[in-house]
Amino acid sequence: MTTQSSFSLPLMEDNITKEDIGELISFLSQEKIPKLTNGPKVLEFEKKWSEWLGVKYSLMLNSGASANELTMLALRYLVGKGEIIVPPLTWISDVASVIFADLTPVFCDINLKNLSFDINHLKTLITERTKAIFLTHVLDLNGITDELLDICKEKNILLIEDVCESHGATFQGKKAGTIGSVSNFSFYFAHHMSTIEGGMVCTNDEKFYQICRALRSHGMVREMTDETLKQQIINENPDLNKDFIFLYPAHNHRSTELNAVIGLSQIKRLDENNQKRVQNFDYFIKNLNPEVYHTDLEIEGQCNYAFIVILKNPSMQNRDYLEQLLRSSGIEFRRGLSGGGNQMKQPYFKKYYNVDHSKFPNVNHVHDYSWYIGNYPSLDRAKIDSLLKILNTAFNG
Ligand SMILES: Cc1ncc(COP(=O)(O)O)c(C=O)c1O
Repeated sequence: MTTQSSFSLPLMEDNITKEDIGELISFLSQEKIPKLTNGPKVLEFEKKWSEWLGVKYSLMLNSGASANELTMLALRYLVGKGEIIVPPLTWISDVASVIFADLTPVFCDINLKNLSFDINHLKTLITERTKAIFLTHVLDLNGITDELLDICKEKNILLIEDVCESHGATFQGKKAGTIGSVSNFSFYFAHHMSTIEGGMVCTNDEKFYQICRALRSHGMVREMTDETLKQQIINENPDLNKDFIFLYPAHNHRSTELNAVIGLSQIKRLDENNQKRVQNFDYFIKNLNPEVYHTDLEIEGQCNYAFIVILKNPSMQNRDYLEQLLRSSGIEFRRGLSGGGNQMKQPYFKKYYNVDHSKFPNVNHVHDYSWYIGNYPSLDRAKIDSLLKILNTAFNG
């Protein structure tokens, strides 16, 4: 029988405040109804985001998954077919986007320090077919190391960063999302900031940006802002109306102005909120029992939005006991960290590819014996202490 607890720790808390809704209402209450599809507010938010991150170009989309998809498609058009090294601990769209772009995903195990690539495994996977390394910064631990950057440089391989769950994380003081050639962000409910739904592709590469501009909107050339490139394509297609040149087979990934208005309001609080999340996580991980849980994480540059709990001992009995204890204590959780654990175990992947799971011990451990629990700015110390008490005394006696 489970006992009902008065303590409650929901997995996520909506970031959208009355202040954001107020901005939306005043935007909609203008004398002349403003344009509501992708327009000046989206552009304004893109500029603000580029300033916050420190990149030249940002393109707002309707989701982080769209950011992944456009990134892989643009990459495919720029560098051709080949292999993309991906982590198995990520969101489905980081793998699906590779498959959609007719590129080949090659999986590399994770390490248990920053939950990004196991560098020794990664070295064995690089071939002349490798086009890029598509890194995921997992739950706001910075995933970049000097060794990884050296490999990219030495082998001339592009680094793409998925920062969808890591807004504000840093590597040696540089923001995650500014180190690779391209980066992706999500503004989904309860991420560090939210636009209800939304995403961003960010880069300093003009050509990449121009291709993404077209891909965002049905592959249309008129969306490009490089007039020379645009004219060249128009000249190459004299039999077409210049307003309707579809350069690539593409969908519609556009945002609305409403999402951008919320983004412009949210970004004002992002740094302040991130600071609270960082303090919460620091306190949590430093006080978590290192005998029972894997606390040896590289937390420098972290900007966490969900507490990471990894059992040291691979015991199914302990796992089931802990889950039951968390549930009865009113603590919401998700097992497997990002994307529910090992993507290679998912039916969409298993159907087409055979995997030797013995090569992936770390991700398989995380898949079975880890959880994330909500960490948000409004969380008070007393709640974190109650959570710690439950976790730290779970296996006493
Ligand atoms: C690492 C990662 N990439 C991509 C996404 C997809 O973002 P969205 O839900 O905005 O499509 C997520 C979702 O949370 C994610 O965690």
